[in-house]
Amino acid sequence: MHQQQLIGVAITGSGSALPPVALDNHGVSQLVETSDEWIASRTGIRQRRLADPTTSLVELAVEAAKGAIAMAGIAPTDLDLIVLATSTADDLFGSAGKIQVELGALQAVAFDMTAACSGFVFGLATAAQFIRTGVYRNVLLIGADILSRWVNWTDRGTCILFGDGAGAVVMQAQSSDRLLGFELRTDGTQNSSLNLKFQAEPKKLVEGVTIGQGGYQPITMNGKEVYRFAVNKVPEVLEKAAFHAHINIAEIDWLILHQANQRILDAVAERLNIPPAKVISNLANYGNTSAASIAIALDESVRQGKIQPGDIIAAAGFGAGLSWGAAIFKWGK
Ligand code: UT7
Repeated sequence: MHQQQLIGVAITGSGSALPPVALDNHGVSQLVETSDEWIASRTGIRQRRLADPTTSLVELAVEAAKGAIAMAGIAPTDLDLIVLATSTADDLFGSAGKIQVELGALQAVAFDMTAACSGFVFGLATAAQFIRTGVYRNVLLIGADILSRWVNWTDRGTCILFGDGAGAVVMQAQSSDRLLGFELRTDGTQNSSLNLKFQAEPKKLVEGVTIGQGGYQPITMNGKEVYRFAVNKVPEVLEKAAFHAHINIAEIDWLILHQANQRILDAVAERLNIPPAKVISNLANYGNTSAASIAIALDESVRQGKIQPGDIIAAAGFGAGLSWGAAIFKWGK
């Protein structure tokens, strides 16, 4: 009987974009009772880039996308699908359509997806399904967030952490498969640990019909809970992804975790016996850029020549949901 051949997935280009304005920890300490010493020693973060009011998420996403498309050596019109992983779209109906038109990717279907800080890894797995089944050949995946718009800048437990940015990759169909394995998880019982919630005020329309209208409220987080969750669950999901990929953890060349906290990066690497030299970290400069962080770190390392074609990368995202996931892939064609 003829067995259908699954199509391989390759990640062939990366790009990133960061707003030019930086706020360092001394600046944050003018807003809340904190210090550079506290923030740096508890998180590793020294500064973060913040978008000004006129910068749109679409602008950052398009800049990152252009870098990825150029590196992959394709034209925007070659794209079949654009997936925008974000929690902070310019428009709640979705921002992917504007990205499509600004790139001139008029053949591509485009949609937003939300999985908070796991968005990039969830997006990789989502995009890969379309490629593997032969539906699409060229996919642009963007992780982008402007969380500064949703941070409570009087809450020192959260405002020290977040920054803005965008990262993107081009994923392409090819005969040899470079996406070796992934594993995704959600635990909604812990949903209240990290939220950016809509709050409805009742509004009576007519007798017997009341609706809710309101707005989204700033980020709330139980930092300790999220920290504990990340340190426990991320090593486990990386091990599962490595199992699916048929590799040993020791074969991983680079560990790119969601850039949330240097202590989380160190603890995960230590649990998995991954030496610090293999752990990619740029959070000192950018803080936690949510769905963008893995793609920005990947792009920087590729452009620095650190990550070479064929290197095995283990990426893991974690955050609100709570959700977490890992993907293992070989860089390049
Ligand atoms: O994308 C995923 C998103 N989230 C995360 O990954 C966050 C994970 N969690 C964390 O990174 C850490 O929990 C934080 C960095 C948020 C907090 O660090 P911590 O070591 O867990 O601190 P803590 O909340 O246990 O607070 C310890 C002390 C407290 O004082 P007391 O009660 O011991 O007197 C806090 O009030 O530090 C105090 N504190 C601060 N002090 C100076 C909390 N935040 C600050 C601050 N500056 N910014």
